[in-house]
Amino acid sequence: MADSQKSATLTLGDQSFELPIHSPTEGPDVLDIRKLYGQAGVFTYDPGFTSTASCDSTITFIDGNQGVLLHRGYPIDQLAEKSHYLEVCYLLLYGFLPSASQLEEFESLVTNHTMLHEQMVYFYRGFRRDAHPMAIMTGVVGAMSAFYHDSTDIHDAHQREVASIRLIAKMPTIAAWAYKFSIGQPFVYPRNDLDYASNFLRMCFAVPAEDYEVNPILSRAMDRIFTLHADHEQNASTSTVRLASSSGANPFACIAAGIACLWGPAHGGANQACLEMLKEIGSVDRIPEFIARAKDKDDPFRLMGFGHRVYKNFDPRAKVMKQSADEVLELLGVENNPVLAVAKELEQQALADPYFAEKKLFPNVDFYSGVILEAMGFPTSMFTPIFALSRTVGWISQWKEMIADPQNKIGRPRQLYLGETQRDYVDIENR
Ligand code: SDX
Repeated sequence: MADSQKSATLTLGDQSFELPIHSPTEGPDVLDIRKLYGQAGVFTYDPGFTSTASCDSTITFIDGNQGVLLHRGYPIDQLAEKSHYLEVCYLLLYGFLPSASQLEEFESLVTNHTMLHEQMVYFYRGFRRDAHPMAIMTGVVGAMSAFYHDSTDIHDAHQREVASIRLIAKMPTIAAWAYKFSIGQPFVYPRNDLDYASNFLRMCFAVPAEDYEVNPILSRAMDRIFTLHADHEQNASTSTVRLASSSGANPFACIAAGIACLWGPAHGGANQACLEMLKEIGSVDRIPEFIARAKDKDDPFRLMGFGHRVYKNFDPRAKVMKQSADEVLELLGVENNPVLAVAKELEQQALADPYFAEKKLFPNVDFYSGVILEAMGFPTSMFTPIFALSRTVGWISQWKEMIADPQNKIGRPRQLYLGETQRDYVDIENR
């Protein structure tokens, strides 16, 4: 980071402190407070990091007010329309759009690393059949460090690259096998003659009893969903991966931590929670009842798939997802899908309501994704695993960026302590 030419002055009592200001290529300036505690003896306080930049990055930029999402400078709507997931993976990992030969080499590398160590089949058998696929994914990905320990040395650039490709390549197999295990069907192995999205669909829906032809409509929709979820700057799960990585933990353990964080209904688990909410609403005439609940301070209910820490305008991914929902459901002949009808009417009524307008609550990436995934044949329990599969490249790209940063150090926040001051132990007979 270049030395800052600008600074802000902080006055505490009779002392003043200069805080360097760094200007980004996009977005707001940042105040550099790294030396604040050493100079002024005070901490800053920002639970939830609403005003805190945890790092510098060149990967993804979000303008929440304009509803803009850029991956290495390219707008998400252009990538969703013109690119495809593995090309977006290359862009996120290496910083530029590949040439035809570079892309072919990358796709071949990923395609030829989709199989899991055969011993991992037995690892799956340790779970109960009714285990949530996210529980299985968290466990299996964490266990990868026991099966692929030849790519766990984070200080070896080659091993970092091998671990990156292994995670991106194997995540569809891991997710598909979690699904197959939960429905008691045999695992379907990946095929090298299929593209990334088609391979995933086949591993999820093929059975040994008959041939399975991938529907190109579903494959294109699946690939687009992967692209829309690929990365999103310093969201909760990416920040989890960065914090776990800052201790020097191996990449498989760090990605498993990201999967665990993503599972929460306030984050990646919202796609499952949103579809379950839309089904609970059931019909458009019940929408006012649920909007009233979402506005009621005494009711913990929130409209799942609505609101965002950064977007105070439309989430550009939600716009693309909504278009895709219309296309996919029409092509599948389920355009009269009652859940989609409830989703569209709910969006209209919420956006017309002053509460949502004042709080700048708009549909986010999770609002329409579940409608498409259900129409494609996935159970709600597979929605967040698909999000995790898609986001693996984002986590990995951010992990590689952090590991390569010479300023990288262990993340160790401080606190505002409001507990007891020091006091002496009291023997039990005197309590
Ligand atoms: C993802 O960070 C990322 O980039 C995440 C993500 C990614 O790609 O990685 O984009 C993916 O996680 C999308 C978000 C999915 N989650 C949901 O859809 C769950 C429902 N949304 C909310 O829980 C909430 O909007 C969050 C968690 C997404 C954001 O919460 P914030 O930024 O902490 O905002 P907040 O909770 O402080 O809410 C601000 C106000 C509050 O009211 P007041 O206390 O000011 O009176 O808005 C209200 C909230 O009560 N509010 C909602 C609401 N979301 C916020 N009210 C009703 N319904 C909602 N959905």
